[in-house]
Amino acid sequence: MKQFLITGGAGFIGSALVRYLINETDHRVLVVDKLSYAGNLASLASVSQNTRFAYEQVDICDRPELDRVLKHYKPDCIMHLAAESHVDRSIDGPIAFIETNIVGTYQLLEAARSYWNAMADERKKSFIFHHISTDEVFGDLHDEASFFTETTPYAPSSPYSATKASSDHLVRAWLRTYGLPVVVTNCSNNYGPCHFPEKLIPLTIINALAGKALPVYGNGQQVRDWLYVEDHARALYAVVNSGKVGENYNIGGHNERKNIEVIETICALLEELAADRKPAGLTNYRDLITYVADRPGHDQRYAIDASKIARELGWTPQETFESGLRKTVIWYLDNPNWWQAILDDRYHGERLGLSQ
Ligand code: NAD
Ligand code: DAU
Repeated sequence: MKQFLITGGAGFIGSALVRYLINETDHRVLVVDKLSYAGNLASLASVSQNTRFAYEQVDICDRPELDRVLKHYKPDCIMHLAAESHVDRSIDGPIAFIETNIVGTYQLLEAARSYWNAMADERKKSFIFHHISTDEVFGDLHDEASFFTETTPYAPSSPYSATKASSDHLVRAWLRTYGLPVVVTNCSNNYGPCHFPEKLIPLTIINALAGKALPVYGNGQQVRDWLYVEDHARALYAVVNSGKVGENYNIGGHNERKNIEVIETICALLEELAADRKPAGLTNYRDLITYVADRPGHDQRYAIDASKIARELGWTPQETFESGLRKTVIWYLDNPNWWQAILDDRYHGERLGLSQ
């Protein structure tokens, strides 16, 4: 039984990882999260009473607090997911991204280095710092035959992806310069339960149920490679357990879809699963689809070559896009309390009219 420390464990992917660790393993889990607008303890409600679960509200930019929790919980590994994660917000205001994604990662690396240096030799050998990153660091692809591999050069496009690329470089520098044992994963677009309502898939479901416009940026032809979040959690566990120190692993779903196809598929699922919840006067959910101005610097296509993690660690996704999207739509239909609380209290969704 190991002690895991998960930064960003109250977020979308972090909470899926924590639920996986508590439900499927014997490990102890400490969540370190500052509860930004995107953090939500309700996503951890199903595991928060477990004796192997602990939570500390800590900002990763706060070095003394990081030192305190490391000293107290003595983790065997750190899985670093805390970040500002929304591209549109990074365009509106990049500073929070610089602070958390770059400075916060630096503070965490320094705290981890100091903690690791003080360890006894045996524990030192098995410690690992797992940095969770994104395929957006590679920029975008413009032809249908190319894929991001572990050796694709970095070429980030947005303030968000530039800060994630910076953090990846810091993590690798801490390995090369100080010997801190690190592993990095770069994953494609996740979707599933507890996804914050500003992202494409939950936004489309929630807006459709409210009879609001379903915004398509630009021509809707951009391609994303979608991975069900629970498949990502399994991949992260495989890497932290069996990945090689110093390596990076790409994680993807083999599910490339154009944005407009994703939105149309959600509308079709809602026709099937929620015809009775259709707002008065609306004939078809798809009538809400509305083309809007494009995202500045919008990346055209992401697609992951996930053959290395399949070959070396035996991981492949279990969900197809069809099965995962159906589960996701059903989860949002069954859990309005989760997202309604965010819309009512915590999320100021003026940007897309969510809060009206
Ligand atoms: P999220 O925005 O849903 O959650 C981020 C979490 O980090 C929140 O709980 C938030 O409170 C916490 N946090 C933010 N700033 C913090 C700080 N300074 N100190 C402590 N906690 C802080 O993000 P997500 O979608 O779950 O993404 C998690 C990680 O995975 C991020 O690093 C992201 O770059 C990466 N990633 C996301 C995707 C995706 O599709 N969502 C894909 C690949 C990689
Ligand atoms: O690729 C991994 C990345 O995926 C992660 O690193 C990010 O943290 C995560 O937010 C996600 O980034 P995207 O920008 O791809 O996700 P988002 O849901 O914001 O948008 C998905 C696509 O849909 C993108 O091409 C923009 C488009 N879009 C988005 C919204 C919110 C729309 O067309 N309309 C919308 O309303």
